[in-house]
Amino acid sequence: MKLSLAMKGSQGVAGAGKTGASGRSNKLGLSIVAVFSVIVALVSMRYLIGVGPVPPIVDTNAFRDPWLVLHIAGAATALLVAPLQFVAQVRARVPQLHRWLGRLYVVGCLVGGVSGLVLATGASSGIVTTLGFGSLSLIWIYVTTKAWRHAVAREFVEHRAWMIRSFALTFAAVNLRLYLPIVIALPIAFEDGYRAISFLAWVPNLVFAELYLRGVFKRRGA
Ligand code: HEM
Repeated sequence: MKLSLAMKGSQGVAGAGKTGASGRSNKLGLSIVAVFSVIVALVSMRYLIGVGPVPPIVDTNAFRDPWLVLHIAGAATALLVAPLQFVAQVRARVPQLHRWLGRLYVVGCLVGGVSGLVLATGASSGIVTTLGFGSLSLIWIYVTTKAWRHAVAREFVEHRAWMIRSFALTFAAVNLRLYLPIVIALPIAFEDGYRAISFLAWVPNLVFAELYLRGVFKRRGA
């Protein structure tokens, strides 16, 4: 599959093929996103080998077993491989790797999404959390399936756009972990903060991805 075609008419998230300040800031942005993604993915994988405690709010989830381990196996794998998929040089030089990691990403998102939906219905913090994580699961599954279908149909410009939306949702896992210490520091009940996070972890990401795709952050003349 000639994934280098994906670059035609598109700018490439990593900024490859772009020069100057815009390309550099894209690369810096992707590097920061990649570092956070890899750290959160690897730390989350500790659940798979039974290392460390499960936070009480998750431990009391009605559907914890076996869905939590399944969820983390899928979702953390997707988070781990995703940043590499946006590196234009990898797509151009090793398209086979991009294809296989892409399949792994999609399977990871689907497994993570279905199990995330089950976990959302069992959330011990109640209906708001169920709605927040539940809607995230459904939209994640829809967006990722759409991105995959565009790749299969060789519609690479659309494939790229839908994968950016998908990754914005996958990145919710990172935002959640960045917001948790803020919620703990705030003078509010932890459960209230957690309910808010079930929406705040992903809605702004999706808005940001949409603005990015519409070129809102493009520098004039870049
Ligand atoms: C983007 C869609 C996702 C949805 C809808 C989702 C949903 C959920 C839900 C409902 C729970 C249980 C929360 C509770 O019982 O209160 C959970 C826990 C968890 N999820 Fe996800 N998740 C998503 C993505 C990810 C990703 C990409 C990772 C990768 C690291 C991940 C890692 C975890 C971990 C480690 C837990 C256990 C709790 C913790 O340690 O913070 N999730 N998720």
